[in-house]
Amino acid sequence: MMKSIVITQPGVLEIQQREIPLPAADEVRVKTIYAGVCGSDVHIYHGHNPFARYPRVIGHEFFGVIDQVGRNVMPSRIGQRVVIDPVVSCGHCYPCSIGRPNVCLNLQVIGVHRDGGFSEFACVPASNAYVVADAIPAHHAALVEPFSIAANITAQLRPTTDDVALVYGAGPMGLAVIQVLKTVFGVAHLVATDRVAARLQRATECGADRCVNNQAANVSDYFDEYGRAPTLIVDAACHPAILPQAIELASPAGRIGIMGFSDAACTISQQAITSKELSIFSSRLNSARFPQVINWMGAGKLNPDALITHQLDFDQVDVALHLFENEPAACCKILLEFPA
Ligand code: NAI
Ligand code: MN
Ligand code: ZN
Repeated sequence: MMKSIVITQPGVLEIQQREIPLPAADEVRVKTIYAGVCGSDVHIYHGHNPFARYPRVIGHEFFGVIDQVGRNVMPSRIGQRVVIDPVVSCGHCYPCSIGRPNVCLNLQVIGVHRDGGFSEFACVPASNAYVVADAIPAHHAALVEPFSIAANITAQLRPTTDDVALVYGAGPMGLAVIQVLKTVFGVAHLVATDRVAARLQRATECGADRCVNNQAANVSDYFDEYGRAPTLIVDAACHPAILPQAIELASPAGRIGIMGFSDAACTISQQAITSKELSIFSSRLNSARFPQVINWMGAGKLNPDALITHQLDFDQVDVALHLFENEPAACCKILLEFPA
């Protein structure tokens, strides 16, 4: 038997004893070592994720070791240290056919549409389990998935060393984006904005050149003083009021990346966009960007430790979810540790 963290219905979390699953023909079974807590886990817990079905084992950011393989998988994979891409796609629909499996018409996200990694063992498609080099420690590997989100949105935005970047939000997502923009793409100048001072402190550790607490100051004043408008803006705070503000702030020919899921309307005008010929991109999950992120991590370009604030035993998951939701100053990425 094994222990699994299950949301049995919205608002109800249980640690259940379950049968250790057997991998299907094209699957591997992963013995989980670390799993990261994400906002979407909290949303499923509260019943705020429209895609989730219950009961559900949550968790889509996890690292472990393959301990069993299905009939069609090479037994030599047993023992591999792997991270799991949560995006399971059909491979033959339109988005899949153009290399965008993350918006597959038949998308199944591990930990959302199907059982995830908050469990001592998880069976996943073999092709979703990516080997990580021994040089990458386990607690870093557990952050490949959040960095894959940053890899995906920056791939859309094509940052250059001439860019003046503005990142809204210094939560786990904003911090991952800041690191990728600064250390991978080397943007010229990067400004981070948030309302929580402790989070902006982390943004500085992640490479932000300047931080603006937009509860106390105006971001547009900063850029007026700086003398150049932002050429690349990422909204990793995802409040509906931000896109109109970003459109107004952006330099002509600027690019804006959004990643929020709010269904609230916001007001934007054609003129504000077209007069500056802005490009607005959106990004969901990641389209096969795990190998890229694993390479960045292996090359020392990412600093996962700057995001990790807590490591807790997996049976402390209720404490973890509570901290994550209520202590944004003290808390950023929480890792759950599973028994060896
Ligand atoms: P988080 O809630 O930890 O971070 C958001 C940060 O934005 C907080 O620090 C908050 O203080 C700040 N913030 C809120 N309103 C602000 C404003 N008006 N101006 C400046 N800062 C503001 O969340 P996390 O985990 O970093 O995720 C960020 C967002 O990204 C969430 O909305 C989440 O749903 C979304 N997301 C999207 C994904 C995608 O694939 N498109 C994947 C993962 C998360
Ligand atoms: Mn996540
Ligand atoms: Zn598809």
